Amino acid sequence: MRARTVVGNWKMHGELASNAKLLGRLRERLADAPCRVGVCVPFPYLAQARDLLDGCPIGWGAQDASAHPRGAYTGEVSAAMVAEFGSRWVIVGHSERRSLHAETSDRVAAKAQAVMAAGLTPIVCVGETLEEREAGRTEAVVAEQLDACLSRLGAPALAEAVIAYEPVWAIGTGRTASPGQAQAVHAFIRARLGAAGAGATVVYGGSVKPANARELFAMPDIDGGLIGGASLSIEEFEPICRAFD
Ligand code: 13P
Repeated sequence: MRARTVVGNWKMHGELASNAKLLGRLRERLADAPCRVGVCVPFPYLAQARDLLDGCPIGWGAQDASAHPRGAYTGEVSAAMVAEFGSRWVIVGHSERRSLHAETSDRVAAKAQAVMAAGLTPIVCVGETLEEREAGRTEAVVAEQLDACLSRLGAPALAEAVIAYEPVWAIGTGRTASPGQAQAVHAFIRARLGAAGAGATVVYGGSVKPANARELFAMPDIDGGLIGGASLSIEEFEPICRAFD
């Protein structure tokens, strides 16, 4: 279902005391946000997110999940375990996992499938590196990443997930894709989903800040954002969640 959506990806940040403050402020200040709001926290903080956000419209979730339902996979966490904490979202295929943990597009698709099987919504990340963009390969790279999910899940199911276009060169660099650059790839992603594309939620991630969120979210195919650094501060995250006309 296409819906305005802003999700914070805390990455490997946080500690109990500062999380409590941030989660409390999210609850106070974003319950009436004009979009779906979520936070994806490190696994050990899922219970804290549940305890402090339960009963308000802000959702929570994790940044990864195993492709396997259970078994001898030391260190992995299943989607069903994440679901037990009342979660709504699970990020899969973030570029940091693709590059630092050698996750292939097929592995990412298997994770998205496992997340859906647990009744949660995967946020499937796709995006090209600077080298790939400069070589004119943006669409080919994004297509390969999406097609793995399309062949495993089918377009109607993928349209029920969230797709996050995160150009690798814009993540944590302060170098945002221009609204036009982001819009072009979002339109490509929607078209790749065929008839289901019009109903899909496609969000942008990569150095989204209060100063650039409104012009990005105003683009016709951008439904919101996946926010890294700026999701750690209520003063930055709140205006991003409100940056819709
Ligand atoms: P930044 O917003 O810190 O660039 O991170 C984006 C991101 O990777 C969100 O998943």
